[in-house]
Amino acid sequence: MGDVVLAISGASGAIYGVRLAHILGNRARLVITESGKLTLAHECDGLTPERLAEESGALLENNENVGAKSASGSAAIDAVVICPCSGSTLGKLAAGIGDNLATRSAIVAMKERRKLIIVPREAPYATVHLENMAKLSSWGTIVIPASPGFYNHPKTMDDLIDFVVSRVLDHLGINNELTKRWTGEEIQ
Ligand SMILES: Cc1cc2nc3c(=O)[nH]c(=O)nc-3n(C[C@H](O)[C@H](O)[C@H](O)COP(=O)(O)O)c2cc1C
Repeated sequence: MGDVVLAISGASGAIYGVRLAHILGNRARLVITESGKLTLAHECDGLTPERLAEESGALLENNENVGAKSASGSAAIDAVVICPCSGSTLGKLAAGIGDNLATRSAIVAMKERRKLIIVPREAPYATVHLENMAKLSSWGTIVIPASPGFYNHPKTMDDLIDFVVSRVLDHLGINNELTKRWTGEEIQ
């Protein structure tokens, strides 16, 4: 199996990306945008990209390096995940703009018909965000909102985080038991 490019952009919810990095480990090529560095530090107790890479085993890429392996059409890259995905990065993807390694890797995923998963977060969404999500979805991108469900009766923040991360892993084809699966017998 090839690598997964995991980009953390500057939307709130960096912790979702952190959890994914820990699960993907050395399969992850980690790309963090400039704003992603801000939210990572602000929301995760001063966490730096370097420390996240060290703790998770992910390979840290430089977001300025659009020539990195993550952006290569011929490299063994299975999928690109942008988690969380800011409205700004979303807009770039909808317009075909690959001006940094995160957006370029996603554009390459689209042209190579690789799996592209985005986890947008904003509240409320502007019409432009909704239209851009619809556009990307119609082109094959999986749009997984950073909106945990409550039907599994989450007790902790980790439960809420794992709900969203589990949906991403499902769409990457990675077996996981992060959340209880719905059986259909819960509601009688
Ligand atoms: C603390 C903080 C929280 C933010 N939360 C969001 C958010 O939830 N969604 C969003 O689209 N942008 C959010 N932003 C704004 C983005 O970081 C900003 O639009 C930035 O240009 C995104 O750049 P990037 O997509 O290259 O990471 C936030 C910024 C900060 C500083």
